[in-house]
This record gives sequence, C-alpha cells and structure tokens, in this order.
Amino acid sequence: MHSAVWLMASVLVLCAPLTQAADGAVTGVDNGAALFAKNCAACHQADGSGTVGLAPPLQGEHWQRLGADRNYLAQVITHGLSGLIMVNGQRFVSSMPAFAGQLEDEQLAAIATYLQGLQQRAGAAYSAAEIATARNSAGSPPQSRTLRNQLLK
Ligand code: HEC
Repeated sequence: MHSAVWLMASVLVLCAPLTQAADGAVTGVDNGAALFAKNCAACHQADGSGTVGLAPPLQGEHWQRLGADRNYLAQVITHGLSGLIMVNGQRFVSSMPAFAGQLEDEQLAAIATYLQGLQQRAGAAYSAAEIATARNSAGSPPQSRTLRNQLLK
C-alpha cells in the first residue's frame, strides 16, 4: 500500500515540471508558476483569484468560452486589455499592462500554460510560436476587449 502511494507520488513529481508544447518545445510549468508569481500575482494573486477593485480573478466559467479561442489569452498578455469588463458578477474598469515588451515568447508561453492549468482547461501547452503570432499581429488594449465581448456574446 505504502509503496504504491510512493510510486504514484514519485511519478507525479517526475512528470510535474515538464509538459510538451504544441510545437514540440518543452515548457516548464514550474517556471510558469514562478514567472506568474513575479509578474502577475501583485495584481491577480498567485492563485489567480484576483484583487477586488484592482484586477479580476483569472478563473471562472467564462474561461470555458474565452479559452475556446486560444488566441484571446495570448492577445491579452502581449497587447493588454482595457475598459469595462464583468468578471464573475464584478465590474472592473481598469487596464491590464501589455507584456510584449517585458517578457520573451517562451516566458509568456509558460505563464499562459500555467494559467490554463489554474483555469482547469484542457489543451496543449502554449508554445512560444503562438505567443509570437499574437505579438506580431495587430492588437491593443481596446481591441482585446472587443475580442472578449465577441467571445462572450
Ligand atoms: C498592474 C496590475 C496587473 C498586472 C501586473 C497584471 N494584470 Fe492582468 N489584468 C489587470 C487588470 C486591471 C485587468 C482587467 C482590465 C480591464 O478592466 O479591462 C486584467 C486582465 C487580465 C486578463 C483578462 C481577464 C478576462 O476576464 O478577460 C488576463 C488573462 C490577465 N489579466 C492576465 C495577466 C497575466 C498573465 C499577467 C502577468 C504576465 C497579468 N495579467 C499582470 C491588471 C494586471
């Protein structure tokens, strides 16, 4: 009994740090958690639960729809988001900074993959290539909001 538990625990530990990204790149999930803690948690909290009046929770049922378009998360983190949004019944009228100028594609991919896990969404890990596509496409904080409204319609 004990040895079976130990075996399962060690398999989990061995599997935890690495996941295979869509383009074959290896993304560290632990790295994503650390990067999220450093760059995002001041506003969104380490567990993504948000801060009342400052930054929204990054979890909730709406992520099933927002997350269905993998590009939404990539757009928000590279280009930012601004304007009124409703999240889990709370209003937020603020702005989310763009991170394209501050973090590399690999780092943003690791953060997006970490968030996908927090949101309990299935799907392949984000690849650096997906982030690069969002980074190089047109985008702005108000445009992210337009996209959000379309996805939640
Ligand atoms: C300075 C505070 C701040 C920091 C730091 C910050 N955010 Fe945000 N974030 C916000 C605010 C404020 C909003 C909501 C913007 C609005 O009201 O339109 C937001 C919105 C978002 C959304 C969209 C939520 C939705 O429901 O559509 C995502 C995703 C997100 N942030 C992810 C991140 C990630 C990932 C990081 C770190 C790389 C990060 N944020 C760092 C303040 C912040």
